[in-house]
Amino acid sequence: MKINHHYLELEQSYLFTTIAHKVSAFQAAHPEKSIIRLGIGDVTLPLCGAVVKALEDASAEMGVKETFHGYGPEQGYDFLKQAIADYYQEKGVTLALDEIFVSDGAKSDVGNILDLFDADNTVLVPDPVYPVYVDTNIMAGRKVIFADANAENGFLPLPDEKVDADIIYICSPNNPTGAVYDREGLQAWVNYAKERNAVILFDAAYECFVCDGSPRSIYEIEGAKEVAIEFCSFSKTAGFTGTRCGYTIVPKALVREGVALNGLWLRRQTTKFNGVPYIVQKGAAAVFSPEGRKETLANIDYYRENAKILADTLDRIGIRYTGGKNSPYIWMECPNGMKSWEFFDYLLENAGVVGTPGAGFGKNGEGFFRLTAFNDHENTKAAAKRIEELLGK
Ligand code: MLT
Repeated sequence: MKINHHYLELEQSYLFTTIAHKVSAFQAAHPEKSIIRLGIGDVTLPLCGAVVKALEDASAEMGVKETFHGYGPEQGYDFLKQAIADYYQEKGVTLALDEIFVSDGAKSDVGNILDLFDADNTVLVPDPVYPVYVDTNIMAGRKVIFADANAENGFLPLPDEKVDADIIYICSPNNPTGAVYDREGLQAWVNYAKERNAVILFDAAYECFVCDGSPRSIYEIEGAKEVAIEFCSFSKTAGFTGTRCGYTIVPKALVREGVALNGLWLRRQTTKFNGVPYIVQKGAAAVFSPEGRKETLANIDYYRENAKILADTLDRIGIRYTGGKNSPYIWMECPNGMKSWEFFDYLLENAGVVGTPGAGFGKNGEGFFRLTAFNDHENTKAAAKRIEELLGK
């Protein structure tokens, strides 16, 4: 028996696991210190009333013989897929229900989708970026190359004609930098993918934060259905980080080597996945009800206010940052030339505030630091005050 040796090429632990261990060790050594977490992008507001009611009703149905549900369709119930299709129609995107695959979250599918691609493909990943894209490809032994995202290009790299890639990851609004592509930027990537017969894996997990008219879906771009798969999630939109539900869109127009990727993904899902629980899908469908829409938008506004509190604080101190407007993430420069992990320790030890070191997202993240707006108002204000007292001197 041989193990998959590619696992040994990974960092020893996943970024957010490393951070969690560091913070627990610090808390154990300093039990008296109050710690505020602005690290992992986990939400703090509870599920909204419309979702909770739908979850309760669906739970009650599961306890009655006539309305009980066993195995559901692996690709999701039509009631949820229809609600998702209607949501896309509002963005001017028409989807057939069999182009939508309900999942247990974008993170799982971003990794699972790689089953469809040969190990020989070259993968282009922006740097810095959500570590799952890189790690899942390393696990599969694929060659990963990077597109530099930096202050010069506003953390939004554009295609380089000299670079050949088969699989291209785009996350917009971006995790970690909060930068968001405009139509021209995404069109350039779609054109590049088309010329090379490449496939774009578009992570739209933060689309609900877009407020300046930038695209929320890659399918708003001409020709994207022939080149892109899109992943989205209810985690950040509706607080489902602990409830687990998302969706993946594989357009039927996406054909490579004469084969529709939609059919391959259906085959993969029906073989390796048994679907998201009925109860959870009912809860997710309630996000799109009029009441659910109102309540989830109010929650997103709440997090936007947190982002503003953090952004205003950095403005006052005079620290440069991106994000915070179309995104729940603020990507700040570490003060006084500190390195990312150095600043992580400094902020934890001196202010009891946890963030995410930019270097954990790639080499271009060195010297940067990510703060999230997902804590509550009270903690965010307290963290902002501590940051200002420490850095504003
Ligand atoms: C993050 O903090 O980058 C995200 O919460 C991670 C995730 O969504 O898996």
